[in-house]
Amino acid sequence: MKRIVIDCDPGNGIPGANVDDGLALALALASDSIKLELITIVAGNTPRDTGYRVACQMLKELNVTIPVVKGAAQALLEPAEPWREQLDNNVRKQGLLSLWDNLPALPAVADISTPHAAQAIGELVCNNPGEITVVAIGPLTNIAHTIQLYPDFARSVAEIVIMGGVFQLDNYLKDTNFAVDPEAAKIVIESGANITLAPLDVTTQTMLTHQDLDQIQNYNNPLSNFIVRTTRPWMDYSIQTRHLPGCWIHDVLCVAQLIDREIATTSAYIVDVSTAQDCTRASSRRWKEGALRLTVGMQPVTHQPINVMDQVNNQRLLKVIFHALEKYH
Ligand code: RIB
Ligand code: CA
Repeated sequence: MKRIVIDCDPGNGIPGANVDDGLALALALASDSIKLELITIVAGNTPRDTGYRVACQMLKELNVTIPVVKGAAQALLEPAEPWREQLDNNVRKQGLLSLWDNLPALPAVADISTPHAAQAIGELVCNNPGEITVVAIGPLTNIAHTIQLYPDFARSVAEIVIMGGVFQLDNYLKDTNFAVDPEAAKIVIESGANITLAPLDVTTQTMLTHQDLDQIQNYNNPLSNFIVRTTRPWMDYSIQTRHLPGCWIHDVLCVAQLIDREIATTSAYIVDVSTAQDCTRASSRRWKEGALRLTVGMQPVTHQPINVMDQVNNQRLLKVIFHALEKYH
């Protein structure tokens, strides 16, 4: 059993919010090769407190008890308001709120604890060196805070599997996770930890369709029902606004790759995240160690290469998801 933490920004059931974090949580809960020990919440796809309510509601529906701990509501430096305006209000401006009409409003969750995601992650990882894998599928603010607070974290964590960044995809200079907190992304990528990265280049090779959801609907268990109910409106939104046959399922790839390492191929690359205040901000670049033709004028790069996913087998990915959700009870 692989022991994992998922640091996420879930949005299942929230108008205009991506549902892939919820699918990643679902796969981790359903897989018999994964033990999900901690869920931590960061602001990104949804505001921090919304993501917290989504995760709590999901666990409540499933009658599952796993600690859910709030983390950062703000990036290290990047101002939050423009991102909240973009991520939380776009669907209303597009006149597509009604796609979510059939979903019940999310109940409030009482939580008076202070946010302590970084401490919860740091304690779990550093008290169990080499044992815990961190799946980071939102902005990397909580993980950067953990690195700052726990100097042993980078060498104690078994692996950090990250969804973030983009290298060569038309019209995408950056992805949401790195963009919401580029300074945090840089700290984590350069930390020296054993990292596997799923950039947008590879997560846009994934695809889930309404036909796939029909199959999941047949499983008719609390987890499959939660996924189908919350994914249908997002999928319709994705079909209308992105002109796709369904929706990408970025984040679930990070969990699925822990279950079946053949789902995606990986190569070792040096990765650099720009924190400049210009049009390169939050963009990422990669190159093979020692292979750069021109380095004149560049500051020497001292951080280690990381594993970057480069090709995904979507059929294999769906098989892993179907198999886990079918036998969930
Ligand atoms: O860029 C894709 C990322 O943004 C995913 O983590 C998804 O959940 C969205 O927030
Ligand atoms: Ca996410």
